[in-house]
Amino acid sequence: MLALTLFHLLAAGFGSPITSQRSFEIDYARNCFLKDGKPFRYISGSIHYSRIPRFYWKDRLLKMKMAGLDAVQTYVPWNFHEPEPGVYNFTDDRDLEYFLKLADEIGLLVILRAGPYICAEWDMGGLPAWLLEKESIVLRSSDSDYLAAVGRWMRVLLPKMKFYLYQNWGPIIMVQVENEYGSYFACDFHYLRYLKNLFRQYLGNEVVLFTTDGATKVFLRCGALQGLYSTVDFGPGTNVTAAFSAQRLTEPQGPLVNSEFYTGWLDHWGHPHNAIPSSVVAKTLSEILAHGANVNLYMFIGGTNFGYWNGANTPYMAQPTSYDYDAPLSEAGDLTEKYFALREVIGMYKDLPKGPIPPTTPKFAYGEVKLMKVGMVTELLNDLSPSGPIKSIYPLTFVQLKQYFGYVLYRTKLSRNCSKEILFSLDAIHDRAYVSVDGIPQGILERNKLLKLNITGNAGANLDLLVENMGRVNYGRYNNDFKGLILNLTLAQDILLDWEIYPLDIDRAVQEGFSPKISGKKASAYEEPSFYTGNFSIPSGIPDLPQDTYLKFPGWTKGQVWINGFNLGRYWPARGPQLTLFVPSNILVSSSPNNITILELEKSPCGTQNCLVEFVDKPILNGTLLYESSSEKLFSKDLWLGPI
Ligand SMILES: *[C@@H]1O[C@H](CO)[C@@H](O)[C@H](O)[C@H]1NC(C)=O
Ligand SMILES: *[C@@H]1O[C@H](CO)[C@@H](O)[C@H](O)[C@H]1NC(C)=O
Ligand SMILES: *[C@@H]1O[C@H](CO)[C@@H](O)[C@H](O)[C@H]1NC(C)=O
Ligand SMILES: *[C@@H]1O[C@H](CO)[C@@H](O)[C@H](O)[C@H]1NC(C)=O
Ligand SMILES: *[C@@H]1O[C@H](CO)[C@@H](O)[C@H](O)[C@H]1NC(C)=O
Ligand SMILES: *[C@@H]1O[C@H](CO)[C@@H](O)[C@H](O)[C@H]1NC(C)=O
Ligand SMILES: *[C@@H]1O[C@H](CO)[C@@H](O)[C@H](O)[C@H]1NC(C)=O
Ligand SMILES: *[C@@H]1O[C@H](CO)[C@@H](O)[C@H](O)[C@H]1NC(C)=O
Repeated sequence: MLALTLFHLLAAGFGSPITSQRSFEIDYARNCFLKDGKPFRYISGSIHYSRIPRFYWKDRLLKMKMAGLDAVQTYVPWNFHEPEPGVYNFTDDRDLEYFLKLADEIGLLVILRAGPYICAEWDMGGLPAWLLEKESIVLRSSDSDYLAAVGRWMRVLLPKMKFYLYQNWGPIIMVQVENEYGSYFACDFHYLRYLKNLFRQYLGNEVVLFTTDGATKVFLRCGALQGLYSTVDFGPGTNVTAAFSAQRLTEPQGPLVNSEFYTGWLDHWGHPHNAIPSSVVAKTLSEILAHGANVNLYMFIGGTNFGYWNGANTPYMAQPTSYDYDAPLSEAGDLTEKYFALREVIGMYKDLPKGPIPPTTPKFAYGEVKLMKVGMVTELLNDLSPSGPIKSIYPLTFVQLKQYFGYVLYRTKLSRNCSKEILFSLDAIHDRAYVSVDGIPQGILERNKLLKLNITGNAGANLDLLVENMGRVNYGRYNNDFKGLILNLTLAQDILLDWEIYPLDIDRAVQEGFSPKISGKKASAYEEPSFYTGNFSIPSGIPDLPQDTYLKFPGWTKGQVWINGFNLGRYWPARGPQLTLFVPSNILVSSSPNNITILELEKSPCGTQNCLVEFVDKPILNGTLLYESSSEKLFSKDLWLGPI
């Protein structure tokens, strides 16, 4: 705290150039970092501020400090901060500077991964979807429109960050340029050089700039650039000597650095939950530290993909709402057995800080909450799409509509009577469409999976497709992930024409509250996508409420859920493995009832069973599920970093 306060005083009061009294640099002769002129090795942990409510940043950082970490590593997701071109958001949960100040106060250094691309299982790897307004754009290359957008963004971000550099009495010791660029097809050194110059221009010549790539020659070939310190990433069970000898191919001298040592692994909907035993992680961590290497544990706490922020891999597989990652601190910030196992390893190599570790926050089972149907999406269009539909002969994508996230309703009229006629497209649906004719559900189309549907209805009936953006691809060469109806659809042989397209501002409508519609439609085997609401009060007379909780969806199928207007994310218990959503206490109130809103896309339990959701005090991230395929092996750690 002191350091930064002093800097603020100096910066505010004196206006004279600050002579650098602190330094962080590379000692090539002694193969280490130098902090203030002394050899220094860091043990760091990843935390993404974008995946944790600001309310909990301090708690998580303190727990990281008490594990013996010297530093935290965080990504800056560009699309989180520049939702529309030239519109910036650095407030509330997006207040990056506040996060840096907290880390500094707690005594943690910061390794900043500034992008522009971050991967991170985050929508489009952090790149804003509006970049796709130029359809042919080559992302992460010297494409002039891409570079111009990157230049404008870095002109906003980097001057803010300069203030927090270690040399300027802030916590940031190193800044990463791009991310695993060697895994990308473009291999454009002009682009990497452009970024290097940009970062130097705004951050100065002193700060250590670095790159990170898979620990093999093939990745380092296109990922490393002279003037950017080249580091590697690898997980538990790897031959540490061999992995660091790969780093030595590009950095014959200097500190050994593993920038992403995997403590666990990510999940996908429809695939088994991933977990890595503590003992395996602890063993390799100890080997890395015994090598005298620097390490960042990825993740130390994973957190949550609230709202629509999850990414996806190819062939298309979306990541779930939880980014628990089987990390040492759980999604909810709980101290796990892995936390203590890794803390013990760290304690063998350095002194652990004295004092109490902040305890795991208590969880509360608020119990069942009855819900009521508000109405079908198609009945609520006045609330959801107040400006009405956009007319277009051919379908428009989300980007063409300038709606980047969520759901869009595409409507056209059947031009003749249809009886079991095939609605088809090889790859038009990104990513899932809930199809109905005049309110009668016809079924679902899903990218890469369900490509055909029988349609029955009379001439003149509305053919509705509610299309869900399930998260943009964050890794590999297919980042240009357009959403919505991205190609023509055919019904029998005919291309469907004359669309009415309703952009849906669901988040605003949920925050403002719906005017209830009583549906005249009879319950049936299928249902159209519909909204449900309910409310619950925090019990009085119990101390320390509200507390964190988890939301469970008995009998529900797939959808999106909000509490008091806060978008908690997607649920999909019909596929799994995640069965409960984390609900942080800061979104709950005790002064009045709390409102729950659910958009159920497929089928609710309301017609046949109890129309309710349930708050429980334990997460279930490994529930039984409908396995999508047996291709899980394809995404083992080795191939994950493998050539594309
Ligand atoms: C900025 O982000 C915060 C945190 O997500 C959000 O509450 C706020 O509404 C956003 N501001 C604007 C102007 O969109
Ligand atoms: C690890 O790699 C090194 C260097 O490539 C090699 O000498 C050693 O035998 C390997 N160790 C094991 C256990 O495979
Ligand atoms: C379409 O079906 C309706 C209702 O069954 C019928 O009245 C109408 O004549 C049919 N139109 C054509 C062109 O077959
Ligand atoms: C469409 O209906 C026909 C006839 O009932 C059936 O054979 C076919 O499997 C159905 N196709 C799809 C994609 O559901
Ligand atoms: C849709 O079909 C029309 C007519 O064949 C064609 O001009 C247009 O490019 C197609 N649109 C897409 C996105 O394929
Ligand atoms: C809260 O839920 C109860 C039923 O559980 C309902 O009667 C009441 O209208 C709801 N209140 C609001 C503000 O929605
Ligand atoms: C819940 O919804 C009711 C009715 O729309 C509203 O009056 C109340 O303020 C909401 N409660 C919260 C905590 O947002
Ligand atoms: C899920 O995880 C829990 C807690 O770790 C464990 O007890 C349970 O056996 C696991 N269930 C499955 C199906 O793997």
